[in-house]
Amino acid sequence: MEGKKPADSAVESRYLLMPHQANPHGTAFGGVIMAWIDMIASMAAQRHCGKEVVTASIDSLSFKEPIRVGDHVVLKASVNYVGHTSMEVGVQVIREEPYITKQIIATTAHLTFVALGEDKHPCPVAPILPETEDEKRRYENAKLRVQARKDLLKKMNR
Ligand SMILES: CC(C)(COP(=O)(O)OP(=O)(O)OC[C@H]1O[C@@H](n2cnc3c(N)ncnc32)[C@H](O)[C@@H]1OP(=O)(O)O)[C@@H](O)C(=O)NCCC(=O)NCCS
Repeated sequence: MEGKKPADSAVESRYLLMPHQANPHGTAFGGVIMAWIDMIASMAAQRHCGKEVVTASIDSLSFKEPIRVGDHVVLKASVNYVGHTSMEVGVQVIREEPYITKQIIATTAHLTFVALGEDKHPCPVAPILPETEDEKRRYENAKLRVQARKDLLKKMNR
């Protein structure tokens, strides 16, 4: 199977945070941000493998800065790493104050998706070909997370 670059499947989208998407303090409700993250990440995974995908896990999620009602919210997702049938997607959620276009990374996340064949079972996906320094760093970091998850599963008494 021919490899693909992270840029080939990367997705970017933009929202305006509305009052019904906020908590009582006037900042984004975490569940709304999580839904946006899951959606954009699944689109990057679908674009990479060209198949149906399911979310297998949310491996990390860090709310670093609050997002306020009226802020523009920019989401960027790209495939960091590919196993045999799974893909790790990284998502950055950027808060942008609309009139000064100052950008701050508000939330980051890593999710794992699994590609499904027509029989609805996991099926192989194309390799990922990181090219830029950032893409190579993300690939190496994702590899560490995948290994750490496997090591933890082995250590846990299941
Ligand atoms: C995700 C799912 C397809 C995995 O099925 P499975 O029979 O356990 O598959 P396998 O054991 O063969 O593993 C397939 C791949 O998934 C990965 N995987 C399985 N469970 C995982 C988990 N909890 N976290 C991260 N990766 C996982 C495996 O490491 C493997 O990766 P690789 O092929 O790249 O090495 C299955 O658990 C499932 O359908 N879950 C429900 C998904 C869902 O409903 N999501 C929410 C809505 S989209």
